[in-house]
Amino acid sequence: MELEQSHPVRAGRRRRILITGAAGQLGQALQQEFADADLADPFDLVALSHKDWDVTHPPSDTVSQGGFDLVLHTAAWTDVDGAEADPQRAAAVNVTGTANAASLGASLVMFSTDYVFDGRKREPYVESDGPNPLSVYGRSKLHAEAVAGAQAWVVRSSWLFGPTGNNFVRTMLRLGGERDEVAVVDDQRGCPTYVGHLASAVRELADGDRARGVWHLAAEGTCTWADLAEAVFSEAGLDCTVRRVSTEELGRPAPRPAYSVLRSERAGAPELPHWREGLRACLAAIRTTPG
Ligand SMILES: NC(=O)c1ccc[n+]([C@@H]2O[C@H](COP(=O)([O-])OP(=O)(O)OC[C@H]3O[C@@H](n4cnc5c(N)ncnc54)[C@H](OP(=O)(O)O)[C@@H]3O)[C@@H](O)[C@H]2O)c1
Repeated sequence: MELEQSHPVRAGRRRRILITGAAGQLGQALQQEFADADLADPFDLVALSHKDWDVTHPPSDTVSQGGFDLVLHTAAWTDVDGAEADPQRAAAVNVTGTANAASLGASLVMFSTDYVFDGRKREPYVESDGPNPLSVYGRSKLHAEAVAGAQAWVVRSSWLFGPTGNNFVRTMLRLGGERDEVAVVDDQRGCPTYVGHLASAVRELADGDRARGVWHLAAEGTCTWADLAEAVFSEAGLDCTVRRVSTEELGRPAPRPAYSVLRSERAGAPELPHWREGLRACLAAIRTTPG
């Protein structure tokens, strides 16, 4: 989907930005963030969804000759449990897909995850901490970081939610309307991050031309999934009780870190609002989204 057309003239031409996986929740938030015209520095935005470019395949001639200055690479296999049963396909999307996005030769923002850590720390993970992923998904994203290349901003974020797609907040809104009680894990702690806030932080990183490499960009504050579920019910006015359970009790296929709070130790790191603010912004966006 081409949002804006222009005549790409090399000298003094407008910047060209490509978003992969554009129909995903972060892809949509980035489209909104970057669609806001910057009159001082206008650019063209090309948003390609899975059906427009399956990133497991090399880019088409049209894409590779698109003259992109910046690629916001959100396309990914994000089914953490499903990846355990199909590591090859998860790697094809996450690792080969990132290599294909990097092959465009543009500045690249590659999105990675708190799941590259094993969760044994009890204080925030910063960029210099050594990764040790527990799951197939986490390992695929760590390999993807490696193939993103030296010209990439590797943005690690966590527990993403937004007004569209499959995410924990939307699942809780549905379950909270259907049930009196839901069982939610209370022994994993992280930073639930609103995609709109992450998109703004990414724009700050890229527009500010910060140094390349790994950046931790996650919401202020921390909580468990059970805390987040209670906050969803309370903010949305749903009469549903959270039964706090352990990860073991829930028995999901993929192991997840017990503690994966991300913070940045880098100078000039964009700061994100608190996750509660993100939750309110998300609920407000859901209320105003048609359908
Ligand atoms: N969700 C989280 O909690 C979280 C946390 C940390 C980091 N991240 C990272 O943040 C990025 C964005 O995540 P998200 O939450 O926005 O995920 P999402 O909503 O699942 O979006 C991912 C998008 O990628 C597309 N996709 C899947 N396979 C593809 C392929 N082979 N070629 C092209 N597109 C493909 C999906 O399309 P289909 O649905 O049509 O397959 C989907 O639209 C990902 O890199 C993810 O690893 C996510």
